[in-house]
Amino acid sequence: MVDILGSTKRTHKCGVLRGSDIGSEVTVMGFVAKYRNLGNLLFIDVRDISGLVQVAFDDNVDKEVFERATTLRTEYVVAITGTVRSRGSNINKTLPTGEIEILATGLKILAEAETTPFEIKDDAKVNENLRLTYRYLDLRRPSLQKALILRDKITHIVRNYLSDNGFLDIETPCLGKSTPEGARDYLVPSRVHPGEFYALPQSPQLYKQLLMIAGMDRYYQIARCFRDEDLRANRQPEFTQIDLEMSYVESCEDVMGVAEGLIKKVFSECCGCTFDGPFRRITWKEAMERWGSDKPDTRFGLELNNISDIVKDCGFGVFSGAVANGGAVRAINAKGLVSKMTRKDMDAYGEFVKSYGAKGLAWAMVKPEGVTSSFFKFLTEDEQKAILAKLNAEEGDVLFFVASDKPKVTFDALGALRCEIASKYELFDKSQYDFLWVTEFPMFEWSEEEQRLVAMHHPFTSPMVEDFGLLDTDPINVRSNAYDMVINGQEAGGGSIRIHNPELQKKIFNLIGLTQEQIKEKFGFFVDAFKYGAPPHGGLAFGLDRMTMLCGQIDNIKDVIAFPKVQNASCLMSDAPSAVDPQQLADLKIETKNN
Ligand code: AMO
Ligand code: AMP
Repeated sequence: MVDILGSTKRTHKCGVLRGSDIGSEVTVMGFVAKYRNLGNLLFIDVRDISGLVQVAFDDNVDKEVFERATTLRTEYVVAITGTVRSRGSNINKTLPTGEIEILATGLKILAEAETTPFEIKDDAKVNENLRLTYRYLDLRRPSLQKALILRDKITHIVRNYLSDNGFLDIETPCLGKSTPEGARDYLVPSRVHPGEFYALPQSPQLYKQLLMIAGMDRYYQIARCFRDEDLRANRQPEFTQIDLEMSYVESCEDVMGVAEGLIKKVFSECCGCTFDGPFRRITWKEAMERWGSDKPDTRFGLELNNISDIVKDCGFGVFSGAVANGGAVRAINAKGLVSKMTRKDMDAYGEFVKSYGAKGLAWAMVKPEGVTSSFFKFLTEDEQKAILAKLNAEEGDVLFFVASDKPKVTFDALGALRCEIASKYELFDKSQYDFLWVTEFPMFEWSEEEQRLVAMHHPFTSPMVEDFGLLDTDPINVRSNAYDMVINGQEAGGGSIRIHNPELQKKIFNLIGLTQEQIKEKFGFFVDAFKYGAPPHGGLAFGLDRMTMLCGQIDNIKDVIAFPKVQNASCLMSDAPSAVDPQQLADLKIETKNN
């Protein structure tokens, strides 16, 4: 390839050139984004991470350069030297560089490119699997580059903030022992220990607490975590935590204060958010009662109401039966939506709540001619009036009701339905941010599957001092020193004040049904460490991926991860996971079964 360019040193990134650069001699490098040949004039757009710039090749300026330019195709990698000139009346106002173009005097083709499997353009309609198969091409798209630039910016702010606050960046092992975050582990076999396995960390929880016992005072890590669980729009099997732990804390507020400071810094510097005063604190109980969720989105109303008292003796068996069986009946009021909702919508919402365990959805539409309802006919006039009053119902409102023997089902179903309705009818301003803490989580929840109490956060979380007395008598009502930060209805982070008293730790392990042997086998090294003096400590972890999504208003977690996995946890680009060489399995003394 002939080098017809004097120097190949880049002087500018493409996207930075402006009117003030007119007359300058520049060299830019990038990918050919667009190619237009007008006979004796040829235009290309060159794209790099900073943006696009238009380049003009003129037959009359340099024949050789012009001829070479005619061989260009999209996605060729080029170096271009030329003079910045005004576009005159052809200004492109949609482009930051739209006032100027480069009149090329030199061109070097750094790499040719085959036709790409899809057009590299943000608004091109391309199948997602195809994009992910050629992720390195998809990543050339400006919107994905923007997301990764934002992620980098957040990481930078986080590191500076935590370092300024005395946190040390300390790495913990990826090859370790199973950690207790409640998902399935990814296991790694060991050649030198046949039949034994490392577990990839679900979080650095045990190690960070051990670092407090080691006297490191304040720790943080941008840590990769691995959880073999079902993927969702905000969940990946491999994700990143901003993980921190601090010693000599007295209460939840000590950790929440530091974490809140971090979030304020990130969101003010990345999204221009302004804050006055501390974030709202909502207890878990209030969050469930009012919004039906431990991660409430409070940007809109549609709050839950408990109408169990009103309907406990009513003639509608679905309602009275649920209350009699120790359950509840709850309702929401979709204000003023009667004209926008049809009977068909009612059926669709009925199906929607079924995926949250509800057996059905009762409804009432408050119309000018009276109330149309799936169940009002079973109620007395007084009961009907009491419900309408409790829900503050007016003409134009649509009311939804869920009854269940299990109060949790009423929360889950209506908590999800209120978000679904708010999103469908755009009941809130998407550009607004809603930051809050949920506190006073229950220490335990009952696992139907395992028929035992399990720790709601993890078993190292300390119970609230006020509830110590209930540990022996009524453990399910013990509250913990755990807290979650919720942003726009998503769990952005969570943590707790830990137990640092070995006796109390033993008691909690007993309550979740761990035998002495199981404790020793699972966490022996960890429990032992507490014998040698553990400072009071607590911490928290934010999801870096989720924080980037929230900051960038990006809906899917894949769009903030360079090389994400798809629904079945595989990587379409590299085809991982894949079969391995039989010799590797033989070395590991592993045989696989085709089931
Ligand atoms: P937790 O399990 O709540 O706490 O996780 C902390 C934060 O990590 C993010 N997160 C995820 N992000 C993407 N994909 C996933 N699969 C995923 N799972 C979790 C969330 C969540 O809030 N060791 C404790 C923290 C502590 O107690 O200090 C822990 O891991 O944003
Ligand atoms: P049915 O008597 O089964 O026709 O139900 C009457 C109405 O009650 C219908 O609108 C059902 O969807 C609704 N329904 C049934 N089960 C429940 C439930 N568990 N909670 C709320 N509504 C229900």
